[in-house]
Amino acid sequence: MANIFPRSFNLSPLKGLFCFGVVGITLILGFWYYATPKTLRVGYQPSQPIPFDHSIHVGQVGLDCRYCHSFVDESSHSNIPSANTCWNCHSHIKKESPKLEPLRRAMDKDYEFYDGKAIEWVRVHKSPDYVYFNHSAHVNRGVSCKSCHGNVDEMDVVYQAETHSMSFCLDCHRNPEDHLRPLEEVYNLDYDASEFIKNHPELGVSTQQELGAFLKKKWSIHPKESCSTCHR
Ligand code: HEC
Ligand code: HEC
Ligand code: HEC
Ligand code: HEC
Ligand code: HEC
Repeated sequence: MANIFPRSFNLSPLKGLFCFGVVGITLILGFWYYATPKTLRVGYQPSQPIPFDHSIHVGQVGLDCRYCHSFVDESSHSNIPSANTCWNCHSHIKKESPKLEPLRRAMDKDYEFYDGKAIEWVRVHKSPDYVYFNHSAHVNRGVSCKSCHGNVDEMDVVYQAETHSMSFCLDCHRNPEDHLRPLEEVYNLDYDASEFIKNHPELGVSTQQELGAFLKKKWSIHPKESCSTCHR
């Protein structure tokens, strides 16, 4: 019997499978690449070596963010405080608390398990290495921590509140008016724009948009959108 199929036929299911595989993998990678950062990172809430509670220290004790994140308005990087900063208070407040045991190990020379090693906080927010970000450029231009980190002052455990995706950054760079606030309110996460506007009739503004436009002009703010601003 004559062979009605060309010799190459036997290979074609394999080729088909191969093509499908390439398309499939591309689809999966594409989905992973674009969808992951925007959806999965929000809500990331690792547990920490000490259950440090911002709602106690900011909300109740009333500490300013800069008491601990002391470089946030001076440098691109916002530091996590060293154990010294905690020890200022906790060498006499709740020193015996089991929650503070890792702090005593780091700081209390009289403690039997003292080792003097830094506390290993788990990082919550992390931009990819190919992104350049700068804290001081934002907080000294009326952009509050709240715009990018949410109401940390009310969090008992810090979690990621915003996507920090490229579109998140660009949405504000295109319309900073929606977000700008007076410099003295940047660290006040309870700030209420309508309250501020009501108390400052001399500015002649009646909405956040108008207040934002006023501040943008006053500080001649022009957030850049060129790729090299954030990718260098
Ligand atoms: C008493 C010290 C203290 C004060 C005051 C404080 N923080 Fe923190 N903050 C910490 C410590 C310690 C961590 C690391 C542990 C953690 O993530 O809970 C941290 C973590 C954070 C993180 C997450 C960092 C990461 O890993 O991505 C953000 C965001 C943050 N703080 C914002 C703020 C803001 C905004 C304020 C002011 C409203 C503030 N903090 C006030 C001590 C402080
Ligand atoms: C300005 C003083 C001050 C500083 C600085 C400070 N704390 Fe506190 N902390 C307090 C006070 C006040 C309380 C509430 C104590 C209470 O409930 O009676 C507290 C409570 C705590 C608790 C809960 C303790 C318990 O057993 O309920 C932990 C854990 C804690 N702090 C960790 C830290 C860490 C970690 C740092 C450094 C990043 C830090 N604190 C810095 C004042 C401070
Ligand atoms: C315009 C957005 C924006 C604003 C405003 C902002 N942050 Fe951040 N923050 C980020 C991004 C993005 C990261 C991750 C940076 C990285 O990976 O290098 C971050 C990281 C951090 C970290 C973790 C740094 C580390 O190395 O563990 C802390 C702490 C922090 N921010 C605190 C603050 C505080 C406090 C304020 C207000 C005073 C603030 N941020 C304002 C976007 C912002
Ligand atoms: C809520 C508003 C807002 C968000 C969100 C925001 N930015 Fe900005 N950004 C600004 C403003 C306002 C400036 C200051 C522009 C000026 O001074 O003309 C700025 C400036 C910058 C600069 C310039 C700093 C310099 O050294 O010149 C960089 C880089 C930057 N932003 C990166 C980012 C990245 C990356 C993100 C996202 C993770 C981001 N921004 C999110 C408002 C925002
Ligand atoms: C205001 C800051 C900012 C500017 C301007 C910016 N990017 Fe990005 N870009 C980011 C951030 C932040 C990410 C990381 C996104 C993430 O982790 O989800 C990113 C990610 C990317 C990625 C990786 C794919 C993705 O979407 O996650 C590419 C490609 C990219 N940028 C290209 C560009 C190009 C091309 C330009 C100029 C037209 C540009 N970016 C301008 C902040 C910026």
